[in-house]
Amino acid sequence: MTKYNKENPFPAKITERYLLNKEGSTKKNYHVTLDLSGSNIDYRAGDAIAIFPENPPEDVNALLEALDKSGNEEITDPRSGAEMSLEHFLKTKTNLIRIPTPLLKQGGDLKLLKEENKQYRTHFIANHDLIDFFEIHPPSLPLQELISYFAPLLPRFYSIASSPKVSPRSVDLLVATFTYKHGEKERQGLGSHFLCDTAAMHTTPIHTYLHPTPHFLLPEDPTTPIIMVGPGTGIAPYRAFLQEREAQKAPGKNWLIFGERNKETDYYYKSYLESLSEKGFLTLDFAFSRDQTEKFYVQHRLLEKGDEVWSALSSGAHIYICGDARHMAKDVLAALTSIIETHGFQDGKAYIKFLRKEKRLLMDVY
Ligand SMILES: Cc1cc2nc3c(=O)[nH]c(=O)nc-3n(C[C@H](O)[C@H](O)[C@H](O)COP(=O)(O)OP(=O)(O)OC[C@H]3O[C@@H](n4cnc5c(N)ncnc54)[C@H](O)[C@@H]3O)c2cc1C
Ligand SMILES: NC(=O)c1ccc[n+]([C@@H]2O[C@H](COP(=O)([O-])OP(=O)(O)OC[C@H]3O[C@@H](n4cnc5c(N)ncnc54)[C@H](OP(=O)(O)O)[C@@H]3O)[C@@H](O)[C@H]2O)c1
Repeated sequence: MTKYNKENPFPAKITERYLLNKEGSTKKNYHVTLDLSGSNIDYRAGDAIAIFPENPPEDVNALLEALDKSGNEEITDPRSGAEMSLEHFLKTKTNLIRIPTPLLKQGGDLKLLKEENKQYRTHFIANHDLIDFFEIHPPSLPLQELISYFAPLLPRFYSIASSPKVSPRSVDLLVATFTYKHGEKERQGLGSHFLCDTAAMHTTPIHTYLHPTPHFLLPEDPTTPIIMVGPGTGIAPYRAFLQEREAQKAPGKNWLIFGERNKETDYYYKSYLESLSEKGFLTLDFAFSRDQTEKFYVQHRLLEKGDEVWSALSSGAHIYICGDARHMAKDVLAALTSIIETHGFQDGKAYIKFLRKEKRLLMDVY
């Protein structure tokens, strides 16, 4: 049976896609379902899926123009050795943003290369893409050699938001879209824009493979209580956990602390979560950061409920943190440390270390 992996990804199709935010929201996060039928990909609640995005046709065409090529030229992919057209290579295999250092050497702009101009070079790379570069410095190398310097288009990862017990042959994803400024250009996140906007439902192949989590899994014992901290896209794997625990009829307590900007517009999977809460299966807490003048985040809710957090941890609960790595995860860890110290442990950091060693504090942050 075919084994699908990074070198041989499975061509999944999008079978469902809808905006999760309500009208008036300042965000656009989508629910996306990928059909994996025929792939024999088996996943677990907690795993992520990798997808290879495609570059937008307008960027591919602009680069072809800067290279003075039609796109029909046959080239050999330097990494896989496969033969393909230049257009296909630029669309599916090349990072069109990053200007690799070896190419600067071919650019003929000595100013870019001189050691004393490091700052100028860094600034140039941060504000220009491959298209800008070749518009300024038309290439002089033979095509096959030139493309061997291009940086590869890397896969993007998305937490699976469904349980295989509910969706054995498909995976649900929660994907955040955004725009950012790169030099003079307004750009969209490549993978998120591809999944949420440009890929056509039911037809565009989404090249996919499983990215199993080494550790972000439910406790083996279904009676173990769990605390799930997940602002924004961090809620995705918890939908999988909840579906799984429901299917297992797991008796352990489930507590979710979800955060987003505004309750009215950004409360994802509201009816599902509330149906679980009404059944007494889930304790739900929120931190809607922009519903009041002062920012209120998941760690503020944790601190407010410090006694209950401590009591759950003391009775053996596993605690999960998922979502933004740069700020949120650090701030949540600091709040947990403070809760631990308030409840009699002098060295909260050592206790955090202990929880991590015991695999009772599990993080999936990016
Ligand atoms: C294990 C794992 C699980 C993940 N799960 C999810 C998930 O469930 N849902 C999800 O949406 N993402 C998830 N991500 C992040 C995802 O893999 C991508 O990094 C994300 O979608 C951005 O990729 P992109 O191609 O759209 O943007 P890119 O084109 O790669 O980004 C371009 C630039 O935008 C910046 N940038 C990235 N994200 C944002 C943002 N939100 N706002 C502003 N600027 C940004 C980057 O720093 C970069 O400079 C996960 C990552 C990992 C490693
Ligand atoms: N430039 C970048 O590279 C960049 C920028 C943003 C996000 N990201 C990435 O985008 C991905 C998706 O983001 P997301 O949708 O999961 O989350 P998000 O958009 O970053 O935020 C979700 C919620 O978390 C709140 N939040 C902001 N800072 C926080 C903190 N320090 N502690 C706790 N909560 C905090 C937000 O509040 P407020 O928004 O009201 O402050 C919002 O309510 C992540 O990978 C993230 O790292 C990257």
